[in-house]
Order: sequence, then structure tokens, then C-alpha cells
Amino acid sequence: MFNEINLDNINLDSAPPANEPERQYYFMAKCREWVKNFEQKNGRLPKACVVNMGCQMNARDSEKLTGILEQVGYTEAADEEHADFVIYNTCTVRENANQRVYGRLGQLGHAKKKNPHMMIGLCGCMMQEPHVVEKLKKSYRFVDLIFGTHNIYKFAELLATRLESERMVIDIWKDTDKIVEDLPVERKYSFKSGVNIMFGCNNFCSYCIVPYVRGRERSRDPKAIVREIERLVADGVVEVMLLGQNVNSYGKTLEEPMTFAQLLREIEQIDGLERIRFMTSHPKDLSDELIEVMGNSKKICKHLHLPVQSGSSRILQKMNRRYTKEQYLTLVEKIRRAVPDISLTTDIIVGFPGETEEDFQETLDVVRKVRYDSAFTFIYSKRSGTPAAVMEDQVPDDVVKDRFDRLLTEVQQIASEVCAVHQGTVQTALVECKNEHDPHLMTGRLSNNLLVHFPGDESLIGKLVDVRLDECRGFYYIGEMI
Ligand code: 5AD
Ligand code: SF4
Repeated sequence: MFNEINLDNINLDSAPPANEPERQYYFMAKCREWVKNFEQKNGRLPKACVVNMGCQMNARDSEKLTGILEQVGYTEAADEEHADFVIYNTCTVRENANQRVYGRLGQLGHAKKKNPHMMIGLCGCMMQEPHVVEKLKKSYRFVDLIFGTHNIYKFAELLATRLESERMVIDIWKDTDKIVEDLPVERKYSFKSGVNIMFGCNNFCSYCIVPYVRGRERSRDPKAIVREIERLVADGVVEVMLLGQNVNSYGKTLEEPMTFAQLLREIEQIDGLERIRFMTSHPKDLSDELIEVMGNSKKICKHLHLPVQSGSSRILQKMNRRYTKEQYLTLVEKIRRAVPDISLTTDIIVGFPGETEEDFQETLDVVRKVRYDSAFTFIYSKRSGTPAAVMEDQVPDDVVKDRFDRLLTEVQQIASEVCAVHQGTVQTALVECKNEHDPHLMTGRLSNNLLVHFPGDESLIGKLVDVRLDECRGFYYIGEMI
């Protein structure tokens, strides 16, 4: 998007500028010199592969890394094994995410033995954990570059340092209040984009590692957000997903505080923007003002992701969620009254320390009462450093597994019933891609986030089209364009 940065005019004989983003432009120009040398020596441009392993926030960060790599001259590698530079953008929200990184890194180590020129970078949430970096330094010496979540904007500078030094470069910051604007981004989709509106989290839910690895909450300047969306729209984007760990508390840290609802009102005014999504909403901060804006908006999609985590008020308190089961259900009622056709999705954790069968039944009760369109269900994972990790009464694995299976059955049964209610209606879909299994079908996303597959061709990608939903197949539709 910011491909207009002209790296040719940067004088590399002078010292790097102190200000951002100019400093990073300087290092991009420096890396580009290296890429030109590589091309001369090898008769081709170097290839890079950015692997995204986490949430939507993480995916957006990967687009920023890709944007910088592209600016510098790297081309995209088909897969990790054939890349000259592989970068894993890691997640650490659950322990299995960490295990996956070590597993894949082991395999990549073998590939690097065959291709010693390969460089390996690691970044993202997992790198913010000191024990992880210790382990990498000790047992994974072949890694070239390690950085965290707070200094991702410095990627060009860190890359330049590594290209010059031939040594493992590690740069992890504990926290930051800095937000650097106007760096390159390479979008995965031409017609839709994530947009960060805030970083970090101040909630400290007792099971969650995010506040420790993403730092304190800070909001982006609303003018910078609107400017970014205007540029995206000028570049063909019709749908944005506003991203933050807790979008409902947007604006509290600004010099001139504003609410998330006010921000939405401003974004709604942007001509050419057709759809607005956002995530994630914390129930405790979801205001009446926001509900009103959602009810009156023409652009905000009819979908709200509202993580409940547990249906038991006792467990919610131990989780430090700061709402009760009753308050959550009242909130859902209020939202449904204002936006009757809204689709609701959620996150649920089973097996939080001390969870009894009775607590679990409360969770099932919420699922039955709300009737979610879909739910992400997670087995509680102990994250060291969080308050829950040292709580007594950790629930035995077999009990958790049994509850998880029962929850999943309930969630899926309800979701398939809720999905089917749209049968026969005509709805607008944003066409996203060709169907993976049948090349005659295109895949579109409805305002309520359901997918519909229908006959069409690739010229429709990025367009909003009306589709009749003919046949519900569990969690998606087969339809026809009208
Ligand atoms: N164990 C299991 N699930 C977790 N989540 C966050 N931390 C943990 C954990 N320690 C889930 C929550 C959150 C989602 C992104 O991940 O449900 O909403
Ligand atoms: Fe984690 Fe809670 Fe913050 Fe979400 S709101 S990132 S669950 S601490």
C-alpha cells in the first residue's frame, strides 16, 4: 500500500535518521542493496516465506513483515523448504502453539543443513517469554533473528543488522508506548483488510498471557486509522476488520479520549467502504452507545464475536472477567433487541482450575440460551506467569476432555440449527475466492459471517453480489447469484 516510498533517494553514506518511519526507510534501502548483490551473485532474487501462526492481529503483523520484505526486493517462496528467508510469526496463547513452533523449527533446522544460506527469523508473542528465548539460544543456534511484538516496526533495521553481522540477532522489548505509522503493508486480499485500532490489553483475565506478551493497552490516533482506511478504499478495499484485543475500550488512552462507538461513526462516513467488522469485544465494556450505533449502521456487519469464556459466575470471577452469567445474558438480550438478525459467536474455555460439573452445566446453559452461530471451544491451557497457573484444583485431563466433547456436540448441534434459518433468503455476499474443492463455484461471505458457495467465475472476486441461499449444508450454504 505504501509502495510509493522512494528508496532510491536515500543516502546510505550518511548516518541513519533518528526519527521513525524515516529510519526504517533507510534500513529498507540498505537491505535492498544486499538484495541487489544477492541477485548479481545468484542470478535471481531471494525468496522469503512468512508463516503466520496466530490470531488476526498476528496475521496483520505478518502482512507488515511481508510488506517490508517486498519493498526490499524479496519475492514470495512457494514453501518454507525453498525459501532463503523463513520467518515464523508465533502465538503463545496456549501451550500447544509453543510445541508446534519447536516441532517445525526442528524440521527447518534439517532443511537449513541442506541449504546453509537459509536464514530463519522468529517473532511474535512467544518470543516475549524469556524462557523461550533462553531455550532458543541454547538448543536452536541455527536461528538468525529473534524479535518480539513491540519492535516489529524495526524489522528492516534488525534484518540489516543480521545481514551485516552473520551472528544471531536478538532484540526483545518488555513494553512500549510507541506506535509507528506509514510502514509498508502487503495485503493478503485485495478487497478486504485488517486494520489495527489498538494494541495490547489491560484486562488481565487470570488465564491469559496476552497482557504479558502484548503489553499495555494503547489506541491508535483516530485520524491515522481513518487515513489508513481511506487509502485502503482507494486501493480497492471494500471491507475492513478493526482489530484490537478489546475494541470496546478503544480511545481511553488517547490524549483526547473518544469511544469505540464514536470511532465507528467516523469510519462509517468513509465513501466507498461497504462493510465494517471488528474484534474482539469484551462484554464488560460493550456500551449502550455501541449497541445503538450497530443498530443504526448500514455498514457494520451483522456479526458480533462476544467471548463468554464460562457460563458460571463463580468461575467468571476467578477468571477476572468482571461480569456475571446474568449480566452477559442481559447484554445479549439487549443486543438482539437492537439488532434482531445479528449473528453471535463466542470463545469458551473448559477445565479452568476449580471448574465443577455444576459450573460446566452453567456454561452449557448459556450455550443453549444464547444459541451461538458458532463457538471456538478451548481446553484450558496453563500459562506460566498467569495467576490461574498457580491456582489449586487444576481439573484432571480426562474430566476436561469429557466436558470438551459434550460442549462441542452441543455447540455444533445448535450452530447447524441456527445456520439453517436463512434457507431461501437472498443476501449480499462479498466474493472472496474460488471454491477449494469445486472450481466452478465461488465462495462469498455474508454480513453474518456465514459462507455461501455458488456458481460463478473469478471476475467476481472482491465484488458484493446478491445470492439466494438454496441449501444449508450444516455450517455453510450452496446458493445461486440472482
Ligand atoms: N487456555 C485456553 N484458552 C485460552 N484462551 C486464552 N488464554 C487461554 C488459555 N490459557 C482463549 C480465550 C480467548 C481466546 C483467544 O483464546 O477463549 O478468548
Ligand atoms: Fe486475554 Fe482477557 Fe485481554 Fe482477551 S481481554 S487478551 S482474554 S486478558
